[in-house]
Amino acid sequence: MSETARLTVDGKTFELPIVVGSEGERAIDISRLRRQTGLVTLDPGFVNTANCRSAITFVDGERGVLRYRGIPVEQLAEHSTFVETTYLLINGRLPTQEQLNQFSVLLNDHSMVHEDMRAFFEHYPRSAHPMGILSSMVNALRAFYPKIPERSQEEEINITVTRLLSKVRTMAAMSYKIFRGHRVVLPRHDLTYAANFLNMMFDSPVRPYIIDEEAVTALNIFWILHADHEQNCSTSAVRLVGSARVNLYAAISAGICALWGPLHGGANQAVVEMLNQIHEAGGDLEPFLARARDRNDPFRLMGFGHRVYKTYDPRGRIMKEVCHRILGKITRKDPLLEIAQRLEEVALKDPYFIDHNLYPNIDFYSGILLRALGIPLNMFTVMFAIGRLPGWISQWKESFEDPDWKISRPRQIYVGPQKQDYVPMKDR
Ligand code: SDX
Repeated sequence: MSETARLTVDGKTFELPIVVGSEGERAIDISRLRRQTGLVTLDPGFVNTANCRSAITFVDGERGVLRYRGIPVEQLAEHSTFVETTYLLINGRLPTQEQLNQFSVLLNDHSMVHEDMRAFFEHYPRSAHPMGILSSMVNALRAFYPKIPERSQEEEINITVTRLLSKVRTMAAMSYKIFRGHRVVLPRHDLTYAANFLNMMFDSPVRPYIIDEEAVTALNIFWILHADHEQNCSTSAVRLVGSARVNLYAAISAGICALWGPLHGGANQAVVEMLNQIHEAGGDLEPFLARARDRNDPFRLMGFGHRVYKTYDPRGRIMKEVCHRILGKITRKDPLLEIAQRLEEVALKDPYFIDHNLYPNIDFYSGILLRALGIPLNMFTVMFAIGRLPGWISQWKESFEDPDWKISRPRQIYVGPQKQDYVPMKDR
């Protein structure tokens, strides 16, 4: 007999089923609440609301646990590659060597971008933010690669997924080169996914890029750590837009726009801007900590806090280790790493941060790693988007195949004026 919750309203008691997840999480199923009681629930920001059952990613915010299809992210960061983790997220299991080879060949075959898109990039305003460019270009992919009626729905989805995974990386590097007035570097068949991206970004006829295996490993780990995070803001945007049965390119473009926000994926850029401000102000942390503690000040300590993690973000811990490894190898000291470490030390002992369960999140150290890899500041969130793409796709596919699927359409509580008549202009 499944558990129920009792709700008593206007003297009547209703039994609501309790749903239990595979890790013991429990939810009150309110899918029939309005029909039974005439009531809806109110939950700004969906802080207490689950919008789906999902088998993709498990996050335990109290214990700092993150698993993709049951595998701890620490093990994937240590043993896997971004392409293999992408296969795991989208297909629900680790690939055999043959499956991985086939997947890599497919990604290679679809890594070029339609030549007409180059004109698109070339005429985009130079002041545009790379996230705005990326969301436009991803949305444009449907126009350049229209649906082919003869293809089955499954074939159409598989080729669209492969195109997105492979071309987003090429488009990001392409826009970087074009915006600097440099010649576009095409993807190479003999390079792996991450090495290809670094080569497309940094190779030039006068200074050939030498593949740095340490940097390739660091980039794989960076993208693995960003690959999915259950129902975050941008994934929820992909699911919501996708629920209208629009094409996948458009749903992903919506996810890119949501991720652009400084409270979400844009935080990695905002963290480095904040650390730069502290550095340029002489390195004194207190003025920034005082603003963060001040409830009347909208300033937030970027890279700290999380809707779900109420302890150290496990991804932030791994990112910090990779920063030290990469910077140690490059031997170029980054003053921002020293400031970030001091800020972390002070904040973790500060009563305000302790009381509010504010710990470094994934964005706190990721920007320092991207700096060490030579990625320009305004492309930091694009790097997050490339990493999150397999997560968005896997979550979209799960909702697309969900037998309980409905178009997402939340209710509201109306608090506006009651009925009133139109007032002619002469009487206003
Ligand atoms: C990502 O959801 C995901 O999974 C996202 C993500 C993913 O992988 O997809 O993990 C990626 O987006 C990480 C978060 C990156 N954002 C930042 O680093 C921006 C700074 N962080 C904050 O804006 C904030 O912590 C959020 C947005 C991340 C979470 O905000 P919540 O859960 O809505 O919490 P809140 O804003 O209601 O804050 C609760 C309290 C408030 O104080 P009180 O009014 O209760 O006294 O905590 C305070 C806030 O003022 N607070 C902070 C703070 N974060 C929360 N105070 C100072 N600095 C901060 N960073």
